Amino acid sequence: MRYTLFLLGFMVISLISAAQMTVKEFNIESQYLNIPVSMEQERQMVKFVEGADTVTYSVIRISDGEPDYWVFKDVSAWKGKTLKMVFSRHVKGLDKIYQSDRFAGQDSLYREINRPQFHFTTRRGWINDPNGLVYHNGEYHLFYQHNPYETQWENMHWGHAVSTDLLHWTELNTALYPDTLGTMFSGSAVIDHNNSAGWGKDAMVAFYTAAGRKMTQNVAWSLDNGRTLTKYDGNPILGPDRDPKVFWYEPAKVWVMVLYDDNFLVIYNSKDLKSWEYKSRNKGFYECPELFELAVDGDQNNRKWVMYGASGTYMTGDFNGEVFTPDAGKYFYSWGSQYAAQTFNNTPDGRRIQIGWGRIEQRGMPFNQMMLFPAELTLRTTREGVRLFCEPVREIGKLHGRKHSWTDLSGAEANEKLHAVNGDLLHLKMDIGIVGWWTFEVLYRGNSLLNFDGNFNRFNGAPYTCDDPGSLRFKVEMLIDRTSVEAFIGNGKLFISEGLKPAKNNDGLQIRGNTWVYSMEVNELNSVYQ
Ligand code: FRU
Repeated sequence: MRYTLFLLGFMVISLISAAQMTVKEFNIESQYLNIPVSMEQERQMVKFVEGADTVTYSVIRISDGEPDYWVFKDVSAWKGKTLKMVFSRHVKGLDKIYQSDRFAGQDSLYREINRPQFHFTTRRGWINDPNGLVYHNGEYHLFYQHNPYETQWENMHWGHAVSTDLLHWTELNTALYPDTLGTMFSGSAVIDHNNSAGWGKDAMVAFYTAAGRKMTQNVAWSLDNGRTLTKYDGNPILGPDRDPKVFWYEPAKVWVMVLYDDNFLVIYNSKDLKSWEYKSRNKGFYECPELFELAVDGDQNNRKWVMYGASGTYMTGDFNGEVFTPDAGKYFYSWGSQYAAQTFNNTPDGRRIQIGWGRIEQRGMPFNQMMLFPAELTLRTTREGVRLFCEPVREIGKLHGRKHSWTDLSGAEANEKLHAVNGDLLHLKMDIGIVGWWTFEVLYRGNSLLNFDGNFNRFNGAPYTCDDPGSLRFKVEMLIDRTSVEAFIGNGKLFISEGLKPAKNNDGLQIRGNTWVYSMEVNELNSVYQ
């Protein structure tokens, strides 16, 4: 009896949901489908179907009244074909979905009030981890975790942008869509110079996690500079958990994968990029692993390996292609908004360049979060031992506009001079000492961006000691964009990144505290969208 009731209930529910289901057909003539979104709406499942096959799916908050913002799907691949959208629930917004060669809001793209002007942000939707960072044929590729349909985390796709100079990024079409194995979680990319996988010499090969009922590792390849990634038909290639970082280990001529699995960073080897053999594991890190080698103080005969996880805490040590043996750590070099940073494979000049996800809310915008400014990582000997340093890539210099520079000023004199600085995109470098008391602060538009507390020895809460412990003298470099600030203390020994608070006043940069400014340089920056 109970079973019959259950069955009856189930049939009624199925009938109701089938009744609510709406199918819309679009004969695709234009580049985009524009979709109205309201954050008050529940997410509903939307399937994109071509012929009889589901091409991909997402959950979208399609508006029932006035949309909060519009998002788009690039449908140029279906031009001349019919694309069906199957909705699980009928709302008014379904009838507002329209095709166009422009996406809604495109006319003001990159001129929105809170749009970062020299950091990568996506046109629409949410982004988190950088993925598949790789240099190839003159381009830096930045793939990333992307929800194209909302300003919150969901529906992970791989977005894709390219740059020739690490400054100007062109956002391309979505690189990886959710499929029957799951949504597209984080991973990495390599260039297969020797054609180990058989997809062609110099193929770009991307590794990603599919997050479905289980997490699996998968691979896709491209012979057209990353413009189309073809998923391997033998996927998945490996079991749990997530975030494969793959690189080439030259001494053993082997591919290495570091994978986050069950609280370990697990190391695998492969000859063909498809079958992977377990080698070893390290405890102490969470998500988004990295493992790379750096020269200490630039000495190529003295090299060390660095292992880090998503939070940016790291260990240094040795690596023989199969086993990472830590010799020091865990330390941290990054503090604040950065998470899930990754470094580029295959850089042309051997620099170890990192991009981190800046967990920074882009208030009132149809896009959310940002990538932090590309930074070069180095290992240097300090009073406390060998440490990881992080500094903005030198390319920032290409954005310099008007330059102001002064030497030997009291803090009060520096504040007077700083009134001459204009603009809200700034690159500051200073050498500053505390004269009296034990603290100093850098303010911008009435908010504290940086504060050093010499009593507890902390910058914005992060423990910090200078190499000359008695001096209370600091090298400070800062990048200020519309919505973010990045500070590199002591030539990058400590990297701090944070979101900017809404301006309290119109004052630009000011220093508070009894300080002596040995030197100060402020560069007004040009927007990359000029
Ligand atoms: C880190 C992370 C990864 C995962 C991805 C999903 O921010 O949780 O472990 O692959 O984000 O978006």
